[in-house]
Amino acid sequence: MKFSAVAITSLLSFALAHPEVLSIRELQRRSAISKRCEATAANFNRKRMAKRTTKRWAGAGNTTYQIQTEAPYYNSIQNDTCVLTPTVTGGPYIWPRSQTLRQDMSESQPGVPLWMDIGVLDVNTCEPLPNVLVNLWHCNATGSYSSFTGRSPNTPFEQLLEEVGIDIADLISGKADLHTDETTFLRGMWPTNAEGMMEMKTTFPGFYVERAIHIHVQAYTDWTLLENGTVSSGNIVSTGQLFFDEDLSSQIMALEPYSSHTEIDRTLNSVDSIFAGESNGYNPVMSVIPADGEDYTNGVIGYITLGVDPTGASSSGGSGGPPPS
Ligand SMILES: *[C@@H]1O[C@H](CO)[C@@H](O)[C@H](O)[C@H]1NC(C)=O
Ligand SMILES: *[C@@H]1O[C@H](CO)[C@@H](O)[C@H](O)[C@H]1NC(C)=O
Ligand SMILES: *[C@@H]1O[C@H](CO)[C@@H](O)[C@H](O)[C@H]1NC(C)=O
Ligand SMILES: *[C@@H]1O[C@H](CO)[C@@H](O)[C@H](O)[C@H]1NC(C)=O
Repeated sequence: MKFSAVAITSLLSFALAHPEVLSIRELQRRSAISKRCEATAANFNRKRMAKRTTKRWAGAGNTTYQIQTEAPYYNSIQNDTCVLTPTVTGGPYIWPRSQTLRQDMSESQPGVPLWMDIGVLDVNTCEPLPNVLVNLWHCNATGSYSSFTGRSPNTPFEQLLEEVGIDIADLISGKADLHTDETTFLRGMWPTNAEGMMEMKTTFPGFYVERAIHIHVQAYTDWTLLENGTVSSGNIVSTGQLFFDEDLSSQIMALEPYSSHTEIDRTLNSVDSIFAGESNGYNPVMSVIPADGEDYTNGVIGYITLGVDPTGASSSGGSGGPPPS
């Protein structure tokens, strides 16, 4: 089957990002859920921050980073919940085989340290959800994804497919994929604790062609750890992408090694199609504070509350196998 470049682009954003274009009604529904859970989300965030000021990084093993001052209080509590949806796929760089159960997925990738503090709420009850496996993956400071390091982060996607001779239909059906290797950097997963919280250390992402800076997230409410260390997930999977404020991104992108990525221009949130879709009615932007209380370029703590529907309709799940088709 032959597709024009324009058709491929729209097909891709359709199939790989938003397989089901969200109806106005669905957006309104999510916005309403987000609003309804506002008070709980705010409390939840407050609790997490309290926890951080008292226990942060005590006995953090090999983490040499030390908090210098009392952790500052984030001054605008983010009440919006980022509502994930079971019907969105994870994009072309999803690679469940390389996802690893761990709380530090940086693997010494250079860049600004980022601690992600993620809370998960049940959107039906607005209560925290314990034991939800939160699966995260993103590109490195210069735009490369592990397991796909042989692919240029600067080549527009339709051109990339053409170069490697992969048919879009095969990619979408899962018959073909773009992976090139078994590296695992900047991929990790960890379950939420009894309070519905988890945290992951990583390196602040850079950017690749045609996309704003983002982190992919999937949440599984039904999962089992297999003997070989891979995870088998039930069929309830929620997927989304998390973003950062442009001011923060500009500040960080001005630093090495991010600033060495000069081959392409960075796509801003304001023109990113997925950001536009996701931020309609609910908030996928992480709330941030500088880890040392002073300077974001020394390290960032990011907070977000994810809303998932554990009773909701499901999409293909599967960790440990090929990407969901
Ligand atoms: C967040 O929610 C709390 C509790 O409902 C409210 O007091 C506060 O003003 C809200 N903050 C913002 C920034 O909306
Ligand atoms: C710290 O890292 C070293 C080398 O990577 C490893 O051998 C050691 O087990 C780690 N210690 C902890 C507490 O994680
Ligand atoms: C990002 O990953 C690619 C592929 O492994 C590597 O060539 C590049 O040096 C990495 N970026 C940085 C800043 O280390
Ligand atoms: C791990 O075990 C599961 C279940 O036995 C199997 O399906 C999967 O292929 C294994 N994965 C690896 C990487 O060995």
